[in-house]
Amino acid sequence: MYVNTKDILEKASKEFYAVPAFNINNLEFLIAILEGAVEKNAPVIIETSEGAIKYAGNGDPIRGAKFFVNLVKGYADTLNIPVALHLDHGKNLEYIAAAIKAGYSSVMIDASHEPFEENLKITKEVVKWAHAAGVSVEAELGQLAGIEDNVSAEENVLVDPQQAKIFVEETGVDFLAPAIGTSHGAFKFKGEAKLDFERLEKVKKLTNIPLVLHGASSVPAKYVELAEKYGADLGGAKGVPAEEIKKCVKLGINKVNTDTDLRIAFLAGLRKNLTENVKEFDPRKYFKEGMQFVKDVVMDRLEFLGASGKA
Ligand code: G3H
Ligand code: 13P
Ligand code: NA
Ligand code: ZN
Repeated sequence: MYVNTKDILEKASKEFYAVPAFNINNLEFLIAILEGAVEKNAPVIIETSEGAIKYAGNGDPIRGAKFFVNLVKGYADTLNIPVALHLDHGKNLEYIAAAIKAGYSSVMIDASHEPFEENLKITKEVVKWAHAAGVSVEAELGQLAGIEDNVSAEENVLVDPQQAKIFVEETGVDFLAPAIGTSHGAFKFKGEAKLDFERLEKVKKLTNIPLVLHGASSVPAKYVELAEKYGADLGGAKGVPAEEIKKCVKLGINKVNTDTDLRIAFLAGLRKNLTENVKEFDPRKYFKEGMQFVKDVVMDRLEFLGASGKA
């Protein structure tokens, strides 16, 4: 069934587990994710970035948002597991409005690049519109500074726990993404992963709402190596180890955003398949192995995050 993201995450917060939110851009990833969630009898969150909506709608946010709602809701309503559709990193009010109108389960307003007061003001406004439509809201505090920005996990870009308390009280936001040292993409750390667990613990104590970990891909060596065996170049790829994510879940993370791991798993399967079957031109066949790898990553995450069996 198609549900509000709040229903999924408040249960997770009460019972101390996390639900993965997987980014999609197309049908193949959606099918693979939902098959994996059904097999694990787990709740799951599907999310689309503004870029995904732009891609699907050929530049028109209303068309793109409606397309994803119909696709996800249509499939979810045939299933006995809770499925939500979330707008990831909404920065543009046009996309946020399109998602709310189209029937997304939740939206993220990401004004984390703005000064605190401005972020608070914009978030409060979005919460007002979204709640009026029965849509829940995620916001972000601090910044996800990747190594590409050369400021990996520096003090001033991480969330301030006291500010988080004020922010949640004043905005009425449903879920919060606190920056604690992760970053997006396949190149997260130069050395060991460095996450600020103490900061996370403080944010949970002071806000007591479901928290979201962005940039949470683990970048499994297995798929990186397979993709490279079949011609990819992903040198230096590094993610957050599953053990570190599990620690975050113990401290209050309930939504674990995952895009890169699915991209790399699919890439490995696709490259392998295309290389090994040079006569194949039916996409249902040459996508199949990539889809299986995506499904495997999905099931593994549902398991180690504790969401398996929680449908
Ligand atoms: O947070 C970013 C997600 O991985 C989506 O990225 O903007 O390339 O769709 P995208
Ligand atoms: P990854 O790039 O680590 O998969 O993070 C995805 C994400 O945070 C989407 O919002
Ligand atoms: Na999000
Ligand atoms: Zn993110």
